[in-house]
Amino acid sequence: MKIPFMRLDRQFEQHKDTIMTICERVFSHGKVLQGPEIDALEAKLCEVMRTKNAVAVGSATDALFFALLTSGVQPGDKVAVPTMTFVASASPVIRANAKPVFVDSGKNFQPDITKTIDLVNAGEVQAVIAVHLFGQLFDIKPLADACRSNNVPLIEDAAQAIGANLNDQIPGSHSFAASLSFDPMKVAGAFGSGGAIVTNDDEIAKRIRQLRYHGRDDSRIYRELGYNSQMASIQAGIINFKLDHLNEWATRRQNIARRYTSVLDELSQVTTPIEQPGETHVFHKYVMTVRSDRNKLRQHLSDAGIGTMVHYGSPLHNEPMFSTHVKPDAEFPEAERFSKEALSLPIYPELHDSEVDQICRELKKFNW
Ligand SMILES: Cc1ncc(COP(=O)(O)O)c(C=O)c1O
Repeated sequence: MKIPFMRLDRQFEQHKDTIMTICERVFSHGKVLQGPEIDALEAKLCEVMRTKNAVAVGSATDALFFALLTSGVQPGDKVAVPTMTFVASASPVIRANAKPVFVDSGKNFQPDITKTIDLVNAGEVQAVIAVHLFGQLFDIKPLADACRSNNVPLIEDAAQAIGANLNDQIPGSHSFAASLSFDPMKVAGAFGSGGAIVTNDDEIAKRIRQLRYHGRDDSRIYRELGYNSQMASIQAGIINFKLDHLNEWATRRQNIARRYTSVLDELSQVTTPIEQPGETHVFHKYVMTVRSDRNKLRQHLSDAGIGTMVHYGSPLHNEPMFSTHVKPDAEFPEAERFSKEALSLPIYPELHDSEVDQICRELKKFNW
């Protein structure tokens, strides 16, 4: 039995009738861009994220770029961003003509917040992009307090964290804005690209609406250089439907994660993701670290037909795109270690119990 890392085909099969009805409705009314599904999705996102505004855009990459532009970041400004994240957490900084300042990883697979706060307090950065990785939130409050008292905008990259909660805090409430992704791999993925910005600042939301469509304002006047970053109405309809399943799917992901953890916690070579009291971890990814040979384990699972991935095999400070932004003496020991030890197991609501059992069996069988 093969167990791929992702099974969008299975998700489609399970919800085919609903998805096809959404597509048919959009094709029938014909407003394939900026249709009523966009307004409905934005209203739903305000509810889910408890923010005053949500603006749907073409991708989370664009959402972060728009957040940077509207935050007042100027060409040449420095922006703190973790080195252990997806490239799109940092590439919008370069696109905004600013300079990323990479921060090492900290504990529990999250960025090192103490180091980020030090950069803010020392006046070494003019903005911060804080990334919530793998479906889990870190406590944003100390960083938000430091940013507020230094007048430094804080942008949350919550691409992987829709539905996550920590002590009733959710992205967007303690920051300037938070970006969300509906990339197909995400917990509420589109069948294509899609992203959004959530913010409590009405003016920022208005400006991002302008930026997403050629810089045009409500009276159809082109105010500034804008972009074409519209979400398709079909995608908005599908995401909206998926958001209704957010809690149910998070519960299923948590159950799968706990099965893996119960097996892996027996092994001294493995560190498993920790669920903290007072939090909802939505397990966008199940990422463990393996101190014995990670690649051998990966091969063992692959030989048994089990797909795995590495998030992330190359910290951003090692990527050529960012080479001019890394000081020669800069060191990122935690991120380097993490990149060699991290391994992600399949986790999606459509995974069958028998498949989870098989993965657990193969994990136990490995010659640790
Ligand atoms: C942490 C993080 N930031 C940003 C992005 C970019 O999202 P999108 O693909 O919607 O542009 C992703 C997507 O994988 C991500 O995981």
